[in-house]
Amino acid sequence: MNLRFTEEQEMMRRMVREFAQEEIAPIVEHMDRTDEFPRQIITKMGELGLMGIPIPEKWGGSGADFISYIIAIHELSKVSATIGVILSVHTSLGTNPILHFGTEEQKQHYIPKLASGQYLAAFALTEPHAGSDAGSIRTRAVKEGGYYVLDGSKVFITNGGEADVYITFAVTDPEKGKKGITAFIVEKDTPGLVIGKKEKKMGLKGSSTTELIFEQARVPASNRLGEEGMGYTIAMANLDGGRIGIAAQSLGIAEAALELAKGYAKERKQFGKPIGQQQAIAFKLADMATEVEAAKLLTYRAAQLHQEGQRCGRESSMAKLFASDTAMKVTTEAVQVFGGYGYTKEYPVERLFRDAKVTQIYEGTNQIQRLVIAKHLLA
Ligand code: CAA
Repeated sequence: MNLRFTEEQEMMRRMVREFAQEEIAPIVEHMDRTDEFPRQIITKMGELGLMGIPIPEKWGGSGADFISYIIAIHELSKVSATIGVILSVHTSLGTNPILHFGTEEQKQHYIPKLASGQYLAAFALTEPHAGSDAGSIRTRAVKEGGYYVLDGSKVFITNGGEADVYITFAVTDPEKGKKGITAFIVEKDTPGLVIGKKEKKMGLKGSSTTELIFEQARVPASNRLGEEGMGYTIAMANLDGGRIGIAAQSLGIAEAALELAKGYAKERKQFGKPIGQQQAIAFKLADMATEVEAAKLLTYRAAQLHQEGQRCGRESSMAKLFASDTAMKVTTEAVQVFGGYGYTKEYPVERLFRDAKVTQIYEGTNQIQRLVIAKHLLA
């Protein structure tokens, strides 16, 4: 595998880096303190073509490759993991299902709006009693004339309340288990769709996470995504790409923490020399850097396979598992390198530490990633 990036991919990196430094860095502290959704950043990202990076130009996207998209999440997340997850969910889980499973009419209607950032997307799979066990969702969809009527509730929906479109999974045939699940494109102003409680989270402040309640929500039958019964496959297939996005987000968090720890280790003196010159801290930094490098290789390898159109469930789970564990380890060690200062809000390492935790939990907990990897190994 060639790990050299192309000129186009490097251009994407430079452009996103510059954008993140100029536009996002100045509001990161505010976002973390106030939990305010960064609407103005999303609008600017739309103008720059970042809300539709891997979407073909024909559909109003940037027409870049999947690796460029992963580079963008990686670079954005070095500055703000919040922006990283908003983009990842919007693209991999919100736009891609329509691109790959939508009808021509659905694509024409939704993709240009999503790719330009005019619309923001979300993915509504998880329910109060169905997180890891996604196949046991209970939200019901009953066909009535030209509509499906949806009843039930969803939780932990990233971009909830801010999104214009929710890729929603509901049971059309309870007799058929996972094969009775169907996907729908649900617009935010659908009668009967209520945005529920907004979660107060440990980290990723500014990214909105809400409940969704469906009370006799009437979704036009023309908004069914794929055939009845295809919903679970649509969810699983899109999570492959989504998990690579979360790996890139984790990588961004880990790299940011490593950079801060390196800088501090060169500056901070104890026992008459910089702490980075003390083996206890030098070895810590060496381990952190090695793990970040390994996470990077796994992430871009999975991205490469995905770009080539290969099934990459195993590789994307490995990348997500390792990169998110690395983000947690490296941010924990970065706080340690900063000592008492690392535990205060004076330095950003405590925010990175809080942001890292959820990467081990969402888009399939790391226990679920191990289950997926083991299933592939033993198949
Ligand atoms: N591509 C296409 N089809 C796939 C697939 C893939 N990657 N993975 C599975 N499928 C298909 C299988 O082929 C199978 O179809 P058949 O029965 O016709 O063969 C069907 O889906 C069921 O597959 P499995 O039996 O392998 O799957 P499972 O039911 O055993 O999976 C599980 C169990 C791995 C635990 C799965 O339920 C899972 O991934 N759970 C975690 C849920 C999750 O990740 N939620 C994330 C929510 S979104 C989120 O977090 C976003 C955010 O906020 C950031």
